[in-house]
Amino acid sequence: MSEEVPLPASLLDFLPCRTPDSWVREALEQERVLLIDHAQCEKKAASTAMNLMFRYVDHADLLTKMSQLAREELLHFEQVVTLMRQRGVRYEHIGASRYAEGLRQHMRRDEPGRLIDLLIIGAYIEARSCERFAALIPWLDDELARFYRTLVKSEGRHFEDYLTLAEQYAAAPVDDRIAFFAERERELIESEDREFRFHSGVPVHA
Ligand SMILES: [Fe+2]
Ligand SMILES: [Fe+2]
Repeated sequence: MSEEVPLPASLLDFLPCRTPDSWVREALEQERVLLIDHAQCEKKAASTAMNLMFRYVDHADLLTKMSQLAREELLHFEQVVTLMRQRGVRYEHIGASRYAEGLRQHMRRDEPGRLIDLLIIGAYIEARSCERFAALIPWLDDELARFYRTLVKSEGRHFEDYLTLAEQYAAAPVDDRIAFFAERERELIESEDREFRFHSGVPVHA
C-alpha cells in the first residue's frame, strides 16, 4: 500500500465526478491492458499537442506550452515502455477507448470555437488522467506508485496549461462550454463500458 496523493482543489472542482471504485478494481486486475493503453495515451497526448502547433502557428503562447507538453508526454511514453519491458508486457496494438472521441465529437467546427473546445477537452483528458493516477496509487506496488506520483504532478500542470490557454484565447468566458463538456465527461465515466481502458467507464463483463 502506498500513501494517497492529494489532488488540487481546482482540478477536483473541474471534474464532474470521481473515478468509480469498480474501474479501479478492474484496472488492478488488468495491469497489462492498463500499461499498454497508458503508453498509447502518452503518445496521443504528444501528437494532439503537435497538431495544435501545426494548426495555430500565430498563437505564440500556445506554441511554447504545447511544445513543452509534447516533449514531456514523449518522455512519459518512454518511461511507460521501459516499465512494460521490465515487467515482460509486450506492446501490442489495442484500439482506443471511446473517451477522447466521445468528447471531440461535440467540438465546434468554427473558429475560435474549435480551438477553445479542443483546449477544454485537453484539460479534461489531463485532469481525468491525473485523478486516475491518484486513484490507483494507494493500491499499486512501490515502483509503479512512484512513477504515477510523478505523473500526477505533470498531468496536473498540463490540465492548468490547457485551461489557461482556453481562457486566454476565448473572446468570452468559457464557463458554459466547460459545464457542457463536464456533463459529456460524466456520461463517459459513469456509464457502462464493455471495453476496459485507461479512460473507460464503469466496467461491465459480457
Ligand atoms: Fe503524460
Ligand atoms: Fe499530460
